[in-house]
Amino acid sequence: MTPPLTPAIAEQLRRVLVNAHAPYSGVHVAAAVEGVDGRLHLGVNVENAAYPQGVCAEASAISDMVTHGGRAIRRVYLASNLPGFIWPCGGCRQKIFEFAEPGCEVVSVTAEGEEERHTIEELLPLGFRLAPR
Ligand code: THU
Repeated sequence: MTPPLTPAIAEQLRRVLVNAHAPYSGVHVAAAVEGVDGRLHLGVNVENAAYPQGVCAEASAISDMVTHGGRAIRRVYLASNLPGFIWPCGGCRQKIFEFAEPGCEVVSVTAEGEEERHTIEELLPLGFRLAPR
């Protein structure tokens, strides 16, 4: 049974999406990482004139989770200003995988309020781990 995206989370994504710093690509992305403890950590992409130094929204949100002592992700929500659904880049799939509980979902939300979800195992099959769990 998949829990519905609460309007409160969609609202929080929309609220921070405008704060994305994306003067180079124009692509605004917001992420909300839900820990297994139920806490929600928000992040946006932060680009840089030295392009590779830019940080994705997922990485920002994961940093906030880790900063506040979180270590396990239950769900990740994503929104952007692009049409349609946004899915994490390859690097962010690996970053989510590092902390994901088995079955961790990535939920993409459009501006129209549609949503689609996939597990991290679907998005990153055979993901890399140094040690088996
Ligand atoms: N971006 C994210 O923040 N998350 C993703 O999963 C995909 C891409 C950002 C990086 C860059 O600032 C902009 O979107 C365009 O690639």
